[in-house]
Amino acid sequence: MPKVKTFYQCQSCGYTSPKWLGKCPDCGEWNTLVEERKETVPSRLSLPAQFRKSEPQLLSSIKAGYEQRTSTGIRELDRVLGGGVVTGSVVLVGGDPGIGKSTMLLQAIAGLSKYGQVLYVSGEESPEQIKIRAERLSIISDDIILFSETSLRSILDTALKLMPKAIVIDSIQTVYTEDILSAPGSVSQVRECAAKLMLFAKKSDIPIFLVGHVTKEGAIAGPRVLEHIVDTVLYFEGDRGHSYRILRTVKNRFGSTNEIGVFEMSDSGLREIENPSELFLLERPLNVSGSTVVAALEGTRPLMVEIQSLVSQTNFGMPRRTTIGVDFNRVNLLVAVLEKRAGLHLGGMDVFVNVVGGLRIIEPAVDLGIISTIASSLRDIPIDPKAFVFGEVGLSGEIRAIAQAEIRIKEASKIGFKRAVMPLGNADKINSSFGLEIVGVKDIESALEAVLS
Ligand code: TYD
Ligand code: MG
Repeated sequence: MPKVKTFYQCQSCGYTSPKWLGKCPDCGEWNTLVEERKETVPSRLSLPAQFRKSEPQLLSSIKAGYEQRTSTGIRELDRVLGGGVVTGSVVLVGGDPGIGKSTMLLQAIAGLSKYGQVLYVSGEESPEQIKIRAERLSIISDDIILFSETSLRSILDTALKLMPKAIVIDSIQTVYTEDILSAPGSVSQVRECAAKLMLFAKKSDIPIFLVGHVTKEGAIAGPRVLEHIVDTVLYFEGDRGHSYRILRTVKNRFGSTNEIGVFEMSDSGLREIENPSELFLLERPLNVSGSTVVAALEGTRPLMVEIQSLVSQTNFGMPRRTTIGVDFNRVNLLVAVLEKRAGLHLGGMDVFVNVVGGLRIIEPAVDLGIISTIASSLRDIPIDPKAFVFGEVGLSGEIRAIAQAEIRIKEASKIGFKRAVMPLGNADKINSSFGLEIVGVKDIESALEAVLS
């Protein structure tokens, strides 16, 4: 009889404790510790002999550039993966329910079915439901195999028999292994199943996509605990109210981590947006105060985004500061810089800052956009709609140079901007102005003068 061990595990972060606790001492979440049971028999994955072997190798004998990439047929997805899916890699796609994970992976697997049979395992939907979705997406292929199954052993057996070109597991929370007694979706199940799938992918060279749900309550194991195990973590973000979706790389062993892919959810599936700048500026109000366009950079991709702000008189005591899409503390800091170095009176004002289109921008180049839009709203002076800005603002009010200025200017010129207000340090160095008027500024006073005149 194998010995059964009982313990309590936090469903949010994976912390284990021998007794129940109301609050997880590790991540601070309440009511997340759940009883789990584990048999103390070493679990083993049955793989054929040729997969089990692994031998030490000389580093110099290993051929470089061995990672083989396959295109999924979706360019935006290929981009965030680092140029296609790498053989034997495990990709976790996380995101809120209903955001479009199943849709994207069905489209991706249809693209991969060009190279041979692919396997779509669903523990959430019936084959009929998937068929209906496939019809909606106009997917016609004789090489997509649907499999409604939640037992990991049975999934791996099938995969071994079929040796498909790619596998999708929708979702990892529904899969369970008999080796562990905990319920499907619990941290130990999810982690164990992912680890076994990872081993399988590495040994068989089959790429595996895992779908993972994120829940705030931590009722089912969030994909957070999986991030260490898998090769690539993608997050699908977006506002339910908007139709665009952003696929963001959070971790990538095979590429850069700040790439984004932009999609639009249409009635026939996800459409790639090749020119997101145009999309994000589509409904921009012209000649209104409190709106600035910033040339931001996400990974290798320039993005022109509108930053709006509203500055209004505080009604009750404490002035409010609210930000959407930019860092809250950064905005507070910039407000202080504006007060001290440019003499703007914001002490009795509420300040709201919003990045249009549900985007989130973290790079410092957005600073100049934030101060311009706040000053524009406070003074009620519109900014020239053909002008855009970028640059970092320092604590003494200096405007600091940022990386890759030329890519940003080029993108702006492509969509019809005429005037660039940027750090002097960048303006001095650029080789081509791409037909734009370049205004280099060195402190916030001259910057505000340049944008608000
Ligand atoms: P889905 O891929 O099922 O989301 P997830 O797997 O992340 O839970 O997508 C769900 C939403 O997408 C659903 O609200 C319907 C919508 N949708 C479209 O708008 N157009 C389409 O062509 C498809 C397939 C779905
Ligand atoms: Mg789904």
